Amino acid sequence: MERVATGVPGFDALVEGGFPKNFSILLSGSPGTGKTIFSLRFLKEGLDKGEKCAYITYSQSPKDILDQAAEFGWGMETLEFIEFKSSEFEEAFVNKKFDRIVLDSLSSIAVMTRDSLGRFIMKSKEIGCTSILISELPKESVWLSRDTISEFLTDGVIILKSVEAAGEVKNLLKVEKMRSTKIEKKSNIYSIGENGFEVKSYRVR
Ligand SMILES: Nc1ncnc2c1ncn2[C@@H]1O[C@H](COP(=O)(O)OP(=O)(O)O)[C@@H](O)[C@H]1O
Ligand SMILES: [Mg+2]
Repeated sequence: MERVATGVPGFDALVEGGFPKNFSILLSGSPGTGKTIFSLRFLKEGLDKGEKCAYITYSQSPKDILDQAAEFGWGMETLEFIEFKSSEFEEAFVNKKFDRIVLDSLSSIAVMTRDSLGRFIMKSKEIGCTSILISELPKESVWLSRDTISEFLTDGVIILKSVEAAGEVKNLLKVEKMRSTKIEKKSNIYSIGENGFEVKSYRVR
């Protein structure tokens, strides 16, 4: 199976070298857990390989996103932006045959029904695209996504959590589901620093 490396330090080793090509991955976590930074690193990896990459943004302007990437020294001039406006966006991405797409976020797109989400995932598979769908999760949620549906429709689910214990804050990443991939269902510590998102080599039970 062809793998698509995310380029996120420490992450690809958790999933046999990367996401299976054509997969749609749900990336869920509460605000500030690093979902956007993780996703930008994934797109930068594609751009560096000459792939066509798009960011579908709802709440942040393209300038905001590029500024955020620039903080980590990631020049992403060739990244394409698509504004989410129902049918227009489906056309835009089907005709352009992107290799990688990030949708930020499912939660802010109230009109994203189960049908349109299913269609998005099918179409991105048709065009050979590997995608990350971001979902904003309220803290302490028992669901894996805000809409409680996308975790069933996507091929993989990654959960980001920030937990506080004994006065210390720990960031935890868990690969909850990844079809066609051997995964260990353990939490991994990660950090966000000047190099962006980094998964540490040790694990937490
Ligand atoms: N240079 C940095 N060093 C350390 N932490 C950072 C840095 N830049 C951003 N962060 C952290 O990353 C978080 C934002 O990440 P982001 O990907 O935008 O979160 P999300 O998309 O999940 O809301 C901030 O809350 C901040 O704690
Ligand atoms: Mg974000």
